[in-house]
Amino acid sequence: MTSLPPGAPRGTIPSPNIWEHTATYELENTGVDRAGVVERTMRGIDDWSGRTLLDLGCGAGFHLPRWAAGDAYGGGAARVVGVEPHPHLAMLARRRTRGRTGIEVLVGSAQEIPLPDRSVDVVQARWAYFFGPGCEPGLAELARVVRRGGTAFVIDNDGSRSTFGRWFRRGYPDLDPPEVQERFWSQHGWNREPLDIAWTFDSRADLEAVVRIEFDPATADAILAEHEGTGVDYAVNLWWKRF
Ligand SMILES: C[S@@+](CC[C@H](N)C(=O)[O-])C[C@H]1O[C@@H](n2cnc3c(N)ncnc32)[C@H](O)[C@@H]1O
Repeated sequence: MTSLPPGAPRGTIPSPNIWEHTATYELENTGVDRAGVVERTMRGIDDWSGRTLLDLGCGAGFHLPRWAAGDAYGGGAARVVGVEPHPHLAMLARRRTRGRTGIEVLVGSAQEIPLPDRSVDVVQARWAYFFGPGCEPGLAELARVVRRGGTAFVIDNDGSRSTFGRWFRRGYPDLDPPEVQERFWSQHGWNREPLDIAWTFDSRADLEAVVRIEFDPATADAILAEHEGTGVDYAVNLWWKRF
């Protein structure tokens, strides 16, 4: 059982993948959606160029420089704030972005975002805290910090489709089924954009290492025994709401 680190705010959700295997989670991030489907879709809904972007549950800050610098689909945000409850990860995120103007990292949680009312244009939470029923305190905080006309995005696994979706259902059979998720988000006024992305790694060893931090040993063994190659097709839901 993963215990909360000293200094983590109440309500922090244990995230053994990134907490206990930070380097392998970094490797995982390098293999997620190399085609940029998620970012292209988000920008099509609400572009953060020149605005304030909050990365909620930013982990070790993998995405923060990219939000500030821009990408193939648009310019950088004028201000980027990363919020992360795990003090060591927040420190790594700070170290990664040291000397970059317009980027700051704060220790905090989705339930108590350390920002003033109506101070953010675009929020993104990627595989962090917003996992459906139970995240209502974080939804209330989003409604407080996002400016009118701004948008919040949540990216999470879609267990109803794709090879990864099948692995996910097998590894986490007790999680809410897709129809419960869908009902939860639509009841709260969120929209769903189903996206087909991929994990793409440079070697089989990299794929195996990442599978082993995301699944228990028996499930990982079974997945790796039946799946060849260095990547996998992966369905995600991009949930979003305009405020
Ligand atoms: C799977 S990691 C994803 C990290 C990052 N979004 C990324 O894509 O690299 C989930 C993150 O959510 C953070 N987290 C846990 N509880 C949280 C909460 N209540 N509010 C915000 N973030 C939380 C964890 O500490 C962890 O860094």
